Amino acid sequence: MKKINIAIDGPSGVGKSTIAKNIAKNLNYLFINTGLMYRAVAYFCIQNKIDLNDERKVINNLNKIILIMHPCEEVSLNNINITSHLWKDEISIFASKIASYKKVREFCVQKQQKFAIEKGVVMEGRDIGSVVIPNAELKIFLVANLEVRTARRMIQLEERKIPYDKDNVFNNIKKRDELDKNRENDPLIKMPDAIEIDTSNISIEEVIKKILLLVDERISNE
Ligand code: C5P
Repeated sequence: MKKINIAIDGPSGVGKSTIAKNIAKNLNYLFINTGLMYRAVAYFCIQNKIDLNDERKVINNLNKIILIMHPCEEVSLNNINITSHLWKDEISIFASKIASYKKVREFCVQKQQKFAIEKGVVMEGRDIGSVVIPNAELKIFLVANLEVRTARRMIQLEERKIPYDKDNVFNNIKKRDELDKNRENDPLIKMPDAIEIDTSNISIEEVIKKILLLVDERISNE
């Protein structure tokens, strides 16, 4: 069966990774969570006491980072699997900060694009349809209101047994929305050829069903 590339973009907490993971499993495609790469770069800076607000310092240290993405949302940094450290809520805001730096984006995007050379990838992030795989056969842009996204993020943190404070989660998502939408380099935007799905009032299962129908449609049009 012919394979396509699927780009899933949207703001924080909208359900991108759960949805993308399920779609990939269903189609037997490769799933890539690109946010993990930005989180790993932020984690490296924190571990090495590099000031995340100092763009030049962050960039000068990129050559010390060997990032390897493994299947199923696992990432290793300089040969150590650091995935379990990356889900903490405070890492996400630091990731958003360094994700605004052009060179950091180039560093991550270059790796992401290699995964998309062969068709059959479901990749999620903020700039997948606009920058990473602009020729993806299917582009989905997910949205949901802030309350729903906060609730989903809390469930995710609970599942990962990570302590959280509700107000912090809410404010964190709000702040990341601002950073991701308003940054100069590769901001979060809906491409004209992306299909928007508002997931506020429908279940994740329904969203997955909708996307799988769109995939069938695209494959039969190829
Ligand atoms: O998707 P996740 O919330 O794990 O991403 C962490 C941060 O990395 C986001 O808040 C965003 O600023 C950044 N990011 C990005 N581009 C991507 C994926 C994530 O800028 N493709």
